[in-house]
Amino acid sequence: MTIGIDKIGFYTPHLYVDMNDLAEARDVDPGKFTIGIGQEKMAVAPLTQDPVTLAANAAWEIIDDQDRDAIDFVIFATESGIDHSKSAAIYVHQLLGLKSGARCIEVKQACYGATAAIQMAKGHVALHPESKVLVLGSDIARYGLNTGGEVTQGAGAVALLIGQDPRIMTLEEPSVYATEDIMDFWRPVYSEMAFVDGKFSNEQYLAFFNRVWEQYKSESGLALKDFAAICFHLPYTKMGLKALRTILDEGDEAVQERLKANFQMSQHYNRNVGNIYTGSLYLSLLSLLELQDELKAGDRIGLYSYGSGAVGEFFSGILQPDYKQHLHVQDHKAMLNSREALTVAEYEDIFKSTLPTDGTTVELDVEQDPAPIVLASLADHKRQYLSR
Ligand code: HMG
Repeated sequence: MTIGIDKIGFYTPHLYVDMNDLAEARDVDPGKFTIGIGQEKMAVAPLTQDPVTLAANAAWEIIDDQDRDAIDFVIFATESGIDHSKSAAIYVHQLLGLKSGARCIEVKQACYGATAAIQMAKGHVALHPESKVLVLGSDIARYGLNTGGEVTQGAGAVALLIGQDPRIMTLEEPSVYATEDIMDFWRPVYSEMAFVDGKFSNEQYLAFFNRVWEQYKSESGLALKDFAAICFHLPYTKMGLKALRTILDEGDEAVQERLKANFQMSQHYNRNVGNIYTGSLYLSLLSLLELQDELKAGDRIGLYSYGSGAVGEFFSGILQPDYKQHLHVQDHKAMLNSREALTVAEYEDIFKSTLPTDGTTVELDVEQDPAPIVLASLADHKRQYLSR
């Protein structure tokens, strides 16, 4: 039996800020944001989108009635969750109409959470081959206005259906991982915004990458030439490029050209959405699979997951025959192209607007949000979602 990714869904809100506009407003050379950081557009979530709705919208496009019968485990990875107690997975379970004979949990380890969820899902399917597991990686990244991290914000979700005999990609062994207690990026429970030691976080991202990559090669016996592409967690696209560059000279010219060309394809969606934390690596994988026509069944894709704090993991997957038929290329193209540009002033207004925390009732203007699933209101400290 093989186990892996059977379907991939993606959702990002309908609003964005252009990085050239942000650079102008922050009195920064636009090249710093578009080349030095490598971002073009940053998705902005209106109040009607939260991590629950982003995830539910991402899953909505891939789940059919057969999946509803088979899904018995929903794992929601997030670091911008809406409740310290109840898992966001339960809301999505309800919004998607999944069967009640299911487990629903939320997992957290910064941007690494969805990778932990996938590995957990793999174990579950190995024990219960008929099961399918819905893994969600959904976040709204907030560093604050006028901060160094502002240009690396974003919002969105990826939904992955994990099952046996997957149609998109099987997941291979070994998977190599490492943990160390460091303070490169964190968000105390009392803070809406993340704290970050930017330069240290960059160094640690690379150090973890080199560590797990070396270990992976020694455990697997594989080398750089065995990979058609390597996808990275992309807090901003230049970060992945920096990591790739540290190992490129392990391959000959043809290998280097292939990996660089495929990296270009794998960063396109992230460049236009921003950091979506838990979903970021899988958005990069989706970008590669949907935009690169040169890949073929049997190709091996490497995946580097990093979550500050920190945990790093390197693993790989093999593309399956006709994988492209199970993607939603045109829908994603339409979603990204139909977004509305915000002025920086409009983005700042949205950034500053918050939901009440004192239990008062608020009705949100859902007509302005084209998403199928929205946050409609709050009353008595409870969120009411609307699926339409
Ligand atoms: P900064 O200090 O604003 O930027 O911070 P900088 O001065 O380092 O410049 C960035 C790059 O732009 C440099 O290139 C400059 O040379 C270049 P580099 O040396 O890095 O190759 N540059 C220009 N290029 C072209 N034209 C120009 C120009 N000017 C300068 N005119 C930083 C940047 C990323 C640190 C900041 O945005 C930040 O703190 N971001 C948040 C933290 C982050 O994303 N860290 C990444 C690793 S940690 C991680 O991935 C985990 C995370 O996702 C969280 C989680 O796990 O939950 C963040």
